[in-house]
Amino acid sequence: MALDVFAPWDDPKAKPLIQFKNVTKRFGDFTAIDDLTVDIFEQEFFALLGPSGCGKTTMMRMLAGFETPSEGSILLAGQDMAPVPPNQRAVNMMFQSYALFPHLSVWENIAFGLRRDRMPKDEIATRVEEMLRLTRLEKFARRKPHQISGGQRQRVALARSLAKAPKLLLLDEPLGALDKKLRQETQFELMDIQESTGTTFVIVTHDQEEAMTVASRVAVMDEGKIVQVATPDAIYEAPNSTYVADFIGDVNLITGSVETEGETLRFTWAESQPAIVGASTKTFGKAQNVHFAIRPEKIAISAQKPEDAANAVPGKVLDIAYLGNISTYHVQLAGGQVIKAQTANNRRISRRSFTWEDDVWLSWTDTAGVFLER
Ligand SMILES: Nc1ncnc2c1ncn2[C@@H]1O[C@H](COP(=O)(O)OP(=O)(O)OP(=O)(O)O)[C@@H](O)[C@H]1O
Ligand SMILES: [Mg+2]
Repeated sequence: MALDVFAPWDDPKAKPLIQFKNVTKRFGDFTAIDDLTVDIFEQEFFALLGPSGCGKTTMMRMLAGFETPSEGSILLAGQDMAPVPPNQRAVNMMFQSYALFPHLSVWENIAFGLRRDRMPKDEIATRVEEMLRLTRLEKFARRKPHQISGGQRQRVALARSLAKAPKLLLLDEPLGALDKKLRQETQFELMDIQESTGTTFVIVTHDQEEAMTVASRVAVMDEGKIVQVATPDAIYEAPNSTYVADFIGDVNLITGSVETEGETLRFTWAESQPAIVGASTKTFGKAQNVHFAIRPEKIAISAQKPEDAANAVPGKVLDIAYLGNISTYHVQLAGGQVIKAQTANNRRISRRSFTWEDDVWLSWTDTAGVFLER
């Protein structure tokens, strides 16, 4: 039922848990965060994604209270956080460089915050055991941090930050040191924890698949600004810029000029090619320069020209990347442009339909791509 969909950001009456209001953070004359405004809601799993140095950790550190904004304000549950010291914010942060206490065992590291909060001994024991189970560290409980692997240390840091069941948990690259399989399992565990505890998570990750998997919304950042914040499917299917389209997933980007003709858009992009036909979602001016962005999996590849495709162009197979579950074909068109098309390998023994140098047709519907002004 539509009513069950979790989307407080669409509800004008919903009160955000976190509000960044025109926050700027300067280090000397370098601007790390640039007039950033964003709302994050209770029980969200909010992912910050962006290239190295774009300001992700700085945002987290300001939320946790380890840095103060140069301008603007940060509100938590409606309260201005400026005068509130880190240890009095209902926020817990797992750092990118998870500083564990070297002289304490794994068990003691996880128990540390609970002890400091004077939680009763038996409750601490129960909680720590629970966290050890969750992060699969039972076997290592008695070891010191230097006696376990990097991935295991990261899980200790995760267990420690989850132990206090904070209202808001900031995770800076929490799974970076884990192998792919453990990483995926931990992602699902994080989502379970998040659902069962109702904690609000803000997670930083370099891994776009991870962001897409866990997040209720993804914010894509560039040089101290949020370029787009939206649900994973909106970020993927309706990016607002070539930057976002290119940052998330694989995409073909073609530059050209677009014109609106009633219900359709005609996109001129190469002398030797017919105009690309698109369904008009917004109106463009006359011969406006834009980018056409289309995902490889939205392009079909066939030996014959398809009868009724809105768009079809001939080309030659230049390269094939076989990835097990999918294959990506690089197809060169007459004008030299290379377009990527992807097919799902849904049969085990694939009769490889196409090989290098084959003449093929690429085709796509009028709604398969998006036209982007920037
Ligand atoms: N204390 C500081 N003094 C000066 N510059 C800083 C300081 N802290 C961060 N910066 C700069 O601010 C920018 C943003 O840093 P930040 O750590 O937030 O990046 P990030 O997005 O977390 O990157 P990464 O993905 O590499 O962790 C960087 O260019 C960094 O060099
Ligand atoms: Mg960082």
